[in-house]
Amino acid sequence: MPILRSAFIALSKNRTLRHFAEKSRAGSRLSSRFVAGMEMDDALRVAETLNKQGIAVSLDALGESVTSEEEARQAAQMYHRVLDAIAERKLSANISVKLTQMGLEQSPELAEFLAGSLAGHAHATGNFVRIDMEDSSLTQKTLDIVRRLHAHPDINGSIGTVIQASLYRSRADIEQLLAEGIKVRLCKGAYMEPAKIAFPNKVQVDENYIRLSCLLLESSVYHGLATHDETMIAAIRTFADQHQIDPSRFEFQMLFGIRRDLQRKLVQQGYNVRIYVPFGQAWYPYFMRRLAERPANVVFLVKNLFRF
Ligand code: FDA
Repeated sequence: MPILRSAFIALSKNRTLRHFAEKSRAGSRLSSRFVAGMEMDDALRVAETLNKQGIAVSLDALGESVTSEEEARQAAQMYHRVLDAIAERKLSANISVKLTQMGLEQSPELAEFLAGSLAGHAHATGNFVRIDMEDSSLTQKTLDIVRRLHAHPDINGSIGTVIQASLYRSRADIEQLLAEGIKVRLCKGAYMEPAKIAFPNKVQVDENYIRLSCLLLESSVYHGLATHDETMIAAIRTFADQHQIDPSRFEFQMLFGIRRDLQRKLVQQGYNVRIYVPFGQAWYPYFMRRLAERPANVVFLVKNLFRF
């Protein structure tokens, strides 16, 4: 399975395949397994439906690794429109943004400026920007930008980031973020990382996930625990019960289209749940990472291909 995982992660970075897949009608149809739709309105409709079920949302206007500063500016404009739409429709929703979509690889200064303008907008409208975490070559840059923006008086509290349990460095990163009161989403990590910086097997990643989630739960900051793994969820619930941590002090987060049964069950049991809802035409890298997480998804993909 690790071989299949690496293969899908490698394919997720292939620009030719990406171009072909994103332009094809069959590809767009397949993407609907994990993507709310091609347009912002599709995602807003999904957000409304989820909100009615008592589920909050984080909207992701897909499009990582832009190739020009102009593309980065356009992506930021799209997110400003999303923030306006959330406020207009009074949705229980925030936004998730990747810094490579804000031009991090072209100009870190531009990425910081654009992310800062989104966080300022979010702050002014009582909203929140989550900066997603990308591969380990970007971890330090991402954390530095988030910490600088968080320290800004017009942003404070309206920006947070993501920590990956797969990396050895994550405990130290969480301690620093907690000391500064920065909200964390904890996930296992969707990228292939070398063994010298990341736990080489799933059991170790899972153990670290549980250790780090306890650290987050004990803090007074509101965090997001992002996982579909029932063992992780059970461990979090047990720790919270044993330490009298009220369910209102944290939220579970899951991805659109994955374990809807579990999402609903947690809401019924009184837990806060937020669903990450991606939309847009640049769906290919996101979609391929979802296949990498669970190669069994390919069976679904093949079955659907034969229906066209
Ligand atoms: P695990 O992979 O062990 O899966 C547990 C169970 O969940 C599986 O047995 C299956 O039932 C179900 N499942 C998991 N993935 C599935 C899939 N793709 N298709 C179908 N079923 C699946 N990563 C990152 O590096 N940076 C980030 O910013 C984020 N952001 C993020 C936000 C949110 C809200 C979530 C839920 C996840 C992320 N991730 C992420 C992805 C994360 O790192 C991880 O790759 C996936 O969540 C899968 O890990 P699980 O914790 O679900 O466990």
